[in-house]
Amino acid sequence: MNRIITLDEFIIHRQKDFPFASGELTGLLRDIGVAAKIVNREVNKAGLLNILGIAHQENATGDQVQKLDLFANEKLIDCLKNSGECCGVASEENEDFIAFPNLDNKASKYVVVFDPLDGSSNIDVNVSVGTIFGIYRRKSDPEGICSREDFLQKGTELVAAGYVLYGTSTLLVYSTGRGVNGFTLDPSIGEFCLSHTDIRIPDRGNYYSVNQGYYLKFDVEMRRYIDYCSDLNLMLRYIGSMVSDVHRILFQGGIFLYPNTRKYPLGKLRLLYECNPLSFIVEQAGGKAITCQLERILEVDMVHLHQRATIAIGSPGMVDEMKEFVERYSTIVPS
Ligand code: AHG
Ligand code: MN
Ligand code: MN
Repeated sequence: MNRIITLDEFIIHRQKDFPFASGELTGLLRDIGVAAKIVNREVNKAGLLNILGIAHQENATGDQVQKLDLFANEKLIDCLKNSGECCGVASEENEDFIAFPNLDNKASKYVVVFDPLDGSSNIDVNVSVGTIFGIYRRKSDPEGICSREDFLQKGTELVAAGYVLYGTSTLLVYSTGRGVNGFTLDPSIGEFCLSHTDIRIPDRGNYYSVNQGYYLKFDVEMRRYIDYCSDLNLMLRYIGSMVSDVHRILFQGGIFLYPNTRKYPLGKLRLLYECNPLSFIVEQAGGKAITCQLERILEVDMVHLHQRATIAIGSPGMVDEMKEFVERYSTIVPS
């Protein structure tokens, strides 16, 4: 029998790859793993408890918030606040970033950004949701409290990113910029165990993933590209939970699109909490991620915390092809 490698073991082992690492990043990833286990427990029993339903609040970008969003948000903040390795967080569920006081006068070097529960409209119907996170090295003076500039960094500055998928099994996928690895939660021992080493995205795949219901609201070049996918007999898969849709594409190849629509002229998805961390992972696995205006996602300037972006992400051959469509048809005035 192969020996099981737990997430903690793997992280500690990998720390040796970073000669100047102090162990803080290692600790942070471990804390996120702990928070993920707590969230997983609640997501799994959501059907049993009276925890389902809308919490009668709206998040900073105006979407309805489900109770489990708030629970996951709280757990992530608690785990990171008490770790001593994180000087602040920014969450999709909070209007502004949250600065943590330095514990024991220890200067923490990192900030963490997250979408505590992505795809939350799926919870009530037992469909996969996930947590998405990104870790940046702070820009501000480590002796003081963190500031906005620590969070308004481009995706190229990410030191680590990942996601946890609460699906048929619970999987944590992360990268520190040296490839992508996946860990499956073994509920019997309560540990994330290494299950997918050095994940590589296929150059092409048989899936395209887009909310086709908005077809008529897309620009003409996007409609042409979607028609082309359909002509190729590609299979349409759209869960409505970006983390789950991108997860499928990471493993099986394909392209995920969330273009601008009339309702969301700048795109719907958030750059800081959704697009950047998932683009970091996909690029690390050999894929590509660009906006529908053809800018590399990780290079988009960050202006505010809840900034939205359009996105085309997935297999490199397919993202390149989508780019060609935009270049070819974008001068046509939509009818
Ligand atoms: P969240 O649950 O964090 O608000 O994110 C939902 C996002 C994303 O996960 C998904 O891909 C997208 O919204 C679905 O949007 P549409 O319903 O407009 O397709
Ligand atoms: Mn989300
Ligand atoms: Mn969310």
